[in-house]
Amino acid sequence: MKDNKLITLAFETSCDETSVAVVSNGREVLSNAISSQIDVHKVFGGVVPEIASRHHLNNINYVYDQAMKEAGLSLEDVDIIGVTNGPGLVGALLIGIATAKSFALATNKPLIGVHHIQGHICANYIEHKDLEPPFLALIVSGGHTDLVNVKDYQELEVLGCTRDDAAGEAFDKVARVLGLGYPGGPKIDKIAKEGNPHAVEFKRTLLEKDSLDFSFSGLKTGVLNFVNSEKQKRKDINVPDVAASFQLAVVDVLVAKAMMAISKTGHDKLVLAGGVAANSLLRKMLKEACDKEGISLYYPSLELCTDNAAMIGCAAYYKYKAGLVDDLYMDAYATLSL
Ligand code: KG4
Ligand code: ZN
Repeated sequence: MKDNKLITLAFETSCDETSVAVVSNGREVLSNAISSQIDVHKVFGGVVPEIASRHHLNNINYVYDQAMKEAGLSLEDVDIIGVTNGPGLVGALLIGIATAKSFALATNKPLIGVHHIQGHICANYIEHKDLEPPFLALIVSGGHTDLVNVKDYQELEVLGCTRDDAAGEAFDKVARVLGLGYPGGPKIDKIAKEGNPHAVEFKRTLLEKDSLDFSFSGLKTGVLNFVNSEKQKRKDINVPDVAASFQLAVVDVLVAKAMMAISKTGHDKLVLAGGVAANSLLRKMLKEACDKEGISLYYPSLELCTDNAAMIGCAAYYKYKAGLVDDLYMDAYATLSL
């Protein structure tokens, strides 16, 4: 029974997680079923789009069954249907979208397309029941590194973004160079704990003086060049030291830019989101920087940092409340502005 709450059924298939969630009144998660394809893709060292689509197609009905069972609800209880419609891998997105459309058509319930990054921000509304806009958000994932001025639930202004690699992408590529496997972020996070973060001083790219943009490709190349030159000299690579030094270089830049954006916008709340928000050093150093400035820092629990449908359900709820509803012509977008 659903007790007069607004129930959202949500789908997320933008990359390599097939996820279906049931969310009540936007912030209460009744179920958040996730089937990860990490084991499938790790033999290739990264996500293979065509394989991702096929696995979403194979899995989505089972993940849906699991989500409904855990929520203890049936399709008649669902009020609105949310789905990620970009940015992401188009073939992968289309599986979630086609499924969501079928349910919307069969039940005649509203269909709401959700921007993946807005979803990541909303993971914090689930985790922190008292969190309300306005605030500054730092979204760091495999595909994005964005600083967003969240003025209201639907009023988002991108203040800065990466000009080349996303932070998570740099973690994944450096992990591959160091032979740590995929996905690289959690592996580097773990092994860096045994290393000296000041062993190698990799260059931090801060761009123009006032810029809130990011650039991580130079750092990635710096690590690659360092590893190659050590190999040429027939020296052993100290993997924990290189991982720790690389991680500190990324985190230094993320913290510096986030605090610069805080002082520019005057916000007193900083919200961290996306897969890289799981990084232990990033959480620690941001907390120290925020404490120093009297800023409240928010981040989601580990499960809500990486891709999941609960965050999409939350975002769909707030879009529905704002009257933002899509129709069955909704499409999938590889790139999509906020
Ligand atoms: O948000 P997400 O699940 O997918 C995208 O929307 O891209 O983020 C995945 C990214 C991957 O690049 C992964 O290596 C990174 O998040 N990641 C981490 C950690 N856990 C996941 N990066 C650094 N430290 C971590 N603990
Ligand atoms: Zn994501």
